[in-house]
Amino acid sequence: MLKQHLQELQQQATPFYVYSLELLRQTLQLAKTEAAKYNYHVHYALKANANAPILAEMLQAGFGADCVSGNEVKRAIEGGFKPEHVVFAGVGKSDAEINYALDQDIFCFNCESKHELEILNELATAKGKTARIALRINPNVNANTHKYITTGLEENKFGINAWELESVLELLQTLPAIELIGIHFHIGSQITDLSVFKNLCTRVNEFQEWFLSRNITLPHINVGGGLGVDYYNPDDNLIPDFEAYFGLFNQFLEVRPGQQVHFELGRSLVAQCGTLISKVLYIKKGITTNFAILDAGMTELIRPALYQSYHQIENLTSEKPEEKYDVVGPICESSDCFRKAVILPETNRGDLVAIRTAGAYGEVMASGYNLREKANVIYL
Ligand code: LLP
Repeated sequence: MLKQHLQELQQQATPFYVYSLELLRQTLQLAKTEAAKYNYHVHYALKANANAPILAEMLQAGFGADCVSGNEVKRAIEGGFKPEHVVFAGVGKSDAEINYALDQDIFCFNCESKHELEILNELATAKGKTARIALRINPNVNANTHKYITTGLEENKFGINAWELESVLELLQTLPAIELIGIHFHIGSQITDLSVFKNLCTRVNEFQEWFLSRNITLPHINVGGGLGVDYYNPDDNLIPDFEAYFGLFNQFLEVRPGQQVHFELGRSLVAQCGTLISKVLYIKKGITTNFAILDAGMTELIRPALYQSYHQIENLTSEKPEEKYDVVGPICESSDCFRKAVILPETNRGDLVAIRTAGAYGEVMASGYNLREKANVIYL
């Protein structure tokens, strides 16, 4: 796909992100169709990519917004999302962020601790408002993914543990400005083993029973996000299998009459539509391989350095016989390496290199380390 646009790409100053809005639309259409089969509601997790043209597509698809900071709530609302379609999650919401979200009358705060509930009650009371909340519960389910993006084990900082729930209910009795409307779960990201979601459903069903046995009805069940993408074969599996994903929840999640089920998908909606394009600056001999030194680095895409994650790397401009390279960036850290021992066509200064499947948690995690400029962005 990118090679069809080579001329256009060659005219841009590197490094830059390129997004295919056409592929994004196809992805959203599929996700929407599959979710609609079961009347599931999707909130897009802005943290994956919060660019305005991408948010506009999410809005167009009819998705709500899942936000984890005051600025994300602001971006969503300024981007046209109705406050009643905005959810605010996060383990450490500041007073200013909570106040802003209260002023906007957002749909729901996903709350992660008793302390947070107390503060939210205080701030809502001061404004004469009632805050709708979902309790984020830590279900202690292993997501079978990288440990940095595992969030649903008791050792993780996220959510309220099962053994604390009884006392949370007692606390809620004393918080008049809080209205409990649901429960929320999110066990991790880049989950490719779908059986993990089956385990999540089992736990959610158990928690539902627990609330029901205490005569508490929950209008909303939010099962979070986490569906993984195929970083290894981006061309074969361009769009994640939403049919299997939503179908699995339909099979295993018990939904009571009148209940709404919410999902918070981030990566699976946007990862595949983004690519980081970089130019080769230098080739340098190493002991075992050559280094291909790019003008993009960990400042533009930190995932390989932080999670040892795999992204397919392609030389878009060379068709010479293949050689082996350590593909690295210009930053003053040895962790600034996209991958070692990559087989590429013989690569030379000026070649354009594509780092694929970078639409989620790429641009949003960029940093200004080494006083780097922010990468440009284009949309195809
Ligand atoms: N809901 C909550 C509460 C979350 O914490 C997250 C992601 C999502 C939804 C969206 O999850 P997704 O569908 O995108 O998996 N920077 C890491 C990923 C961090 C994910 C954080 N939470 C990476 O590059 O792999």
